[in-house]
Amino acid sequence: MHKYPDDIFTEPSDIDPDTLANLGPLRPLAGVWTTEKQIHGTDVNPKADGPDVQAFVDRVELQPIDPQTNGPQLLYGLRYHQHIVKPGEVETYHDQIGYWLWEPATGAIYQTLAIPRAQVALAIGEAKPDATEFELVAKRGTTMNGIASGPFLEEAFKTIHYRIKVTVHPDGRWSYDETTLLDIKGQTKTFEHRDTATLVKIAEPTPNPSARKAAA
Ligand code: HEM
Repeated sequence: MHKYPDDIFTEPSDIDPDTLANLGPLRPLAGVWTTEKQIHGTDVNPKADGPDVQAFVDRVELQPIDPQTNGPQLLYGLRYHQHIVKPGEVETYHDQIGYWLWEPATGAIYQTLAIPRAQVALAIGEAKPDATEFELVAKRGTTMNGIASGPFLEEAFKTIHYRIKVTVHPDGRWSYDETTLLDIKGQTKTFEHRDTATLVKIAEPTPNPSARKAAA
């Protein structure tokens, strides 16, 4: 495990303000993305009478934020908003916000995710700066890469594990394959809530505020 400095207050002094140049394996994810026409994402979700399989249209915006320090720890990241609808519909089917973070010193990747079911998670993984595949995991009951749910979900849809695998393709598209494991009240078998999609870019990212200032 990486050894952080004993001095937990002093911040690095030579921080490059250009987040897009320092995102390591997250760089290919920067921008605005959608699922291609006719090639929808797929959601397997829990319903009373068994798994429901639903096609979806995804729109994800991932924009660079200014470098973030925790004392000596330096993180570069993307703030994201994912909005999902059923094909041809307007009503929100799934909404998710958070940050994807890259820690150059350790090779760690973090995803902080929040969904409006009164649920948050912090998933952690590791990758090389030029990796085109990486996987992050969050688990119920840990204080580090944990999952926190409100009382209803904790009672009825206990979320015990979350895993997301990202694959960046040679043509610039990228895919995610995520599985959220739910222990559903009254059911003996753990439910695999699975979501997959491949995304194409519809707009380039906007450089972060301090990169824009440095460039001006
Ligand atoms: C593309 C991503 C996702 C989509 C499209 C999606 C969609 C859905 C849908 C349609 C349901 C059933 C809703 C209902 O009948 O009320 C559901 C249930 C649930 N989802 Fe997701 N979900 C996604 C990702 C996630 C993630 C990342 C988590 C948590 C880490 C999560 C946690 C849950 C939980 C706890 C439930 C059970 C609550 C319930 O069914 O009322 N989902 N999801």
